Amino acid sequence: MVKINKNYAKIKETYLFSETAKKIAAFSEKHPEIQVIKMSIGDVTKPLIPEVTEAMKKASEEMGTQKGFHGYGPEQGYDFLKDKIKKYYEQYIKVNLDADEIFISDGAKSDIANITDIFSNDNIIVIPDPVYPVYVDSNIMLGREIKYIHGTEENGFLPMPDPTVEGDIFYLCSPNNPTGAAYSHEQLKKWIDFVSERKGIILYDAAYESFVTSGAPRSVYEIEGAKNCAIEFCSLSKTAGFTGTRCGYTIVPKNLIFDGFSLNKMWLRRQTTKFNGVSYVVQRAAEAVFSDTGLKNIRKTINYYQRNARIMTDTLKKLGISFTGGEDSPYVWFKVPDGMSSWEFFDYLLNGCGVAGTPGSGFGNCGEGYFRLTAFNTYENTVEAMSRIEKLLKK
Ligand code: MLT
Repeated sequence: MVKINKNYAKIKETYLFSETAKKIAAFSEKHPEIQVIKMSIGDVTKPLIPEVTEAMKKASEEMGTQKGFHGYGPEQGYDFLKDKIKKYYEQYIKVNLDADEIFISDGAKSDIANITDIFSNDNIIVIPDPVYPVYVDSNIMLGREIKYIHGTEENGFLPMPDPTVEGDIFYLCSPNNPTGAAYSHEQLKKWIDFVSERKGIILYDAAYESFVTSGAPRSVYEIEGAKNCAIEFCSLSKTAGFTGTRCGYTIVPKNLIFDGFSLNKMWLRRQTTKFNGVSYVVQRAAEAVFSDTGLKNIRKTINYYQRNARIMTDTLKKLGISFTGGEDSPYVWFKVPDGMSSWEFFDYLLNGCGVAGTPGSGFGNCGEGYFRLTAFNTYENTVEAMSRIEKLLKK
């Protein structure tokens, strides 16, 4: 008889964002008269920039010609895109990479979950709490042991290395999802030294790097020593509105050699077996993001979302509610008023003013009593949502 992976019994039956989406849909069905403003899942609302759509059109047309047709592409990604990402790192992040250290994928989420394949199950995994649920769920699915380090108001939701919480694989996300807090260079250096001493590895989620405005690091490789102990995941979802288009990249430095195994070669081997690459059309679209005008235009969109974030944080300031995020991140994370639980506040906000967010407890136990809103809605909806929230909470 087939034996199933019973580790699935240890995770919640529904993925956090599917659960909130279901609740919002049920509410809308019951109250069609209320226009719900969704600030829950971090899904973008601004359209793709013209450079991207033009590149997609051109690439689709090429695909319809004998000369321009492309079948299977290189599993690691086309050179034209890897070279653009390499240049982006050189020019804007001041980090030199080898093009063979860059792997193109359909987004950071899949790579972050799939990277578990190249590590043995007896590693001890250290994960901050609260955090993006994919790190926890993908390890529980494999029956791995997880230790948590706590993000709290006291440490600004930026947990630092704790010698009492030893481990092998350390997940970090900066700017953080869900709290929006970003590690400084000094803080990341402490992490790199701590993990290097233990011959461990950092799995670094940089999906929100393009939102950094405070001078915080945009890549873990800005920090000396990181190429010996960190893999970085990045995505065009939030940077260039690719949530529905799907393209991201993962950096696996060639220096990462453990027990005689090159992680770069292992990841390539894993991808060539289990992944056939991102479509030619989407990779051409991604290439256009990194053109001079592409980068200027995505910056305008990011600025637009950052303006939304300021409207959100201004309202919270007015209401005297403490928060993190909004500065280096499209997420604003705040303490739920009146001692409500995160899910109670979710219902209170949805029923009370038709605004949907994400309960902090969905990101871990330390998120209980907190709530996350995203700045990815339109400017008009953000203004409207914050005015509804202000009225509701002032009552
Ligand atoms: C979020 O809302 O946390 C993100 O949109 C989820 C994701 O990027 O997969």
